[in-house]
Amino acid sequence: ANNRTFTMIKPDAVEKGHIGGILNMITEGGFRIVAMKLTQLTVADAQKFYAVHSERPFFGELVEFMTRGPIVAAILEKDNAVEDFRALIGATNPAEAAEGTIRKKYATSIGENAVHGSDSDENAAIEGAFHFAGREQF
Ligand code: CMP
Repeated sequence: ANNRTFTMIKPDAVEKGHIGGILNMITEGGFRIVAMKLTQLTVADAQKFYAVHSERPFFGELVEFMTRGPIVAAILEKDNAVEDFRALIGATNPAEAAEGTIRKKYATSIGENAVHGSDSDENAAIEGAFHFAGREQF
């Protein structure tokens, strides 16, 4: 559905105690949390989730980073969710992220950038289904 997106609060932000701050920005941004959990990706999960990046030079680093500790996975609902959430999180590289974005406030680097946001409605559905059964989505 085009009113949902999928997000992860990545290991760097969880380690630093930013779960609450990030969830606050998400809800203040008008998103409703319709599924959520604290979980940890296995190496196989991360390789599958980021398969589109498997030929990139940073792939090994990305998989190592995303599996090093717990993440918060969530499905968010709002009109125009995918596009509006990408605006709220800001540019991949926090040095280029706009004021008021989640990455401007919480990201460390292009790799350790605090949050994930789906890049399309199709991927939002795939990524949400990867983490949540239907009965876990409200
Ligand atoms: P995201 O856009 O959520 O999904 C792909 C991730 O790959 C991206 O966040 C970064 O965490 C990571 N990434 C992208 N470019 C680089 C890079 N040049 N070096 C390290 N990690 C990167």
